[in-house]
Amino acid sequence: MQTALIIGASRGIGREFVKQLLAAKWTVHATARTDADLSELKKSGAHPLRFDATEVGSADSLGSNLAASALDLVVYVAGTFGMESGASSAPATSTFDQVMHTNVLGAMQTIPLMAPRVEAAAGKFLFITSGMGSIAEAQSSMGWVYRASKAALNMAVHSASFDYPKATFVAMNPGWVKTDMGGPGAPTSVTASVAGMLKVASQLTLKDSGSFHSYDGKKWPW
Ligand SMILES: NC(=O)c1ccc[n+]([C@@H]2O[C@H](COP(=O)([O-])OP(=O)(O)OC[C@H]3O[C@@H](n4cnc5c(N)ncnc54)[C@H](OP(=O)(O)O)[C@@H]3O)[C@@H](O)[C@H]2O)c1
Repeated sequence: MQTALIIGASRGIGREFVKQLLAAKWTVHATARTDADLSELKKSGAHPLRFDATEVGSADSLGSNLAASALDLVVYVAGTFGMESGASSAPATSTFDQVMHTNVLGAMQTIPLMAPRVEAAAGKFLFITSGMGSIAEAQSSMGWVYRASKAALNMAVHSASFDYPKATFVAMNPGWVKTDMGGPGAPTSVTASVAGMLKVASQLTLKDSGSFHSYDGKKWPW
């Protein structure tokens, strides 16, 4: 049986990863921030763990509380959008910190704790980034802080891949997905996005480590 850890699994894309992996008979460890969400994860059949990227020491607790010593798949999903506005307004420090801590710092604190366990299984470490983090694709500054956070996450993933040569590190663009963040007008269902990302993940090999992919299998420009 294969083992996964989904970080940021209370709702949306993370919750769907849990659902699809449980249906495929994986052992699934999954994080949330509230007692109610942890209890829902437990009811679904996952092993719940508390993690809040904005709390000091939360990543270390996650590392100590996770029983699995080898992980075939880890997905860092936790993310927040912050402000819609672009470069015409300066971000509030609190917004900047919230977005950067959730989208970047949480991932960077998780990597040294989890990557050796991914290497132990010769597994995959996926990071849900965004097309909005692509410098090559940017055509506006809308969601300025979010864009900067996902570009920073992309660099964190690409550069970390050199330090963990037995794990496959991939930045993943999930598409524009119908979730609380993506909104009801998004063209892609959460089911299709996650099924696509799991298919891509199953086809990745070590030579793909350090790359940026989309849920539909295409390589994405940095
Ligand atoms: N939906 C899209 O169109 C889209 C497009 C590109 C990229 N993405 C990325 O995909 C990922 C998932 O997005 P989604 O659409 O599923 O969004 P969502 O429905 O808003 O879910 C966000 C998830 O992140 C968790 N989270 C937020 N702040 C956190 C923190 N400080 N510590 C730990 N977990 C935290 C949330 O937990 P709580 O329930 O506790 O808040 C929730 O589980 C994000 O990284 C997002 O940037 C989404």
